[in-house]
Amino acid sequence: MSTPHTRLDLRPPLGTDDAGRGGDPADAGHFGRRNLLKWLIRLGLGAFALAFALPALAIRSLTRVTQAVAQGDELVYAPGSTDLPVGESLRAADLAEGTAVQAFPRGKADDANNLIEVVRIPAGDGAAGLVAYSAICTHLGCAVYAGLNDDGHIACPCHASQFDPAENARVVGGPASRPLPSLPITVNADGVVVVNGAFSGPIGPE
Ligand code: FES
Repeated sequence: MSTPHTRLDLRPPLGTDDAGRGGDPADAGHFGRRNLLKWLIRLGLGAFALAFALPALAIRSLTRVTQAVAQGDELVYAPGSTDLPVGESLRAADLAEGTAVQAFPRGKADDANNLIEVVRIPAGDGAAGLVAYSAICTHLGCAVYAGLNDDGHIACPCHASQFDPAENARVVGGPASRPLPSLPITVNADGVVVVNGAFSGPIGPE
C-alpha cells in the first residue's frame, strides 16, 4: 500500500522574513513605505541641488568665454589712465608720440587681466606707430603704470621692472624675466583702436 506524498513547502510563512524570523506584515509594509519615502526625499534634494548648480556653472563658463580679449574688440579708456571719460572709445588720434594709455576691450573690463597698454612709439625709434601690450606685469602680476617713465619705458610700480615698448616690450630692468605679451591692433574707419589678433603669450606671471 502506498503512502500519499506530502509536498514540503519551503516558502517562509507569511509575516516572516527569508530567515524565518517573524514579524507583523503591517510593519513590513510600513518599513517599505518609509524606505521609499527616504529615497524620494533624496531624489528631490538631488534634483533641487542640480537645479541651482547647473545654471551657476553655465553662467560661469559663459562669463569666461565672453570676457576673453578677441579680434574685433574695440578698445575703451580704462580708469585712471587719461582725462578722457572712462569707457569712451580709444581713438588713435588721441595718442601723441611718446605717450601711453591703458584700455579695456569694450564690455570686458570686469577681468583685470584684460588691461591693455597702448603706446605710440616716437618716430625714430624704429617701430613708429601704435603698439599694444598686456598691462599685467610678467613678474608677479601687478598692473604697470599707465604712463611711460622718463626713459620712455613701461614701468611696474611693484618691484620696478621695466619694459621697452619700442622693442616688443623686452625687459630692460627689474626682476621680470619675460616681455609683456604683445597684442596686434588696428584702427577702424572711425579712427577707433581695435584688437586684431591674440596676445603673443600668457598674461602675467607663468
Ligand atoms: S610685479 Fe612687476 S616688478 Fe614685480
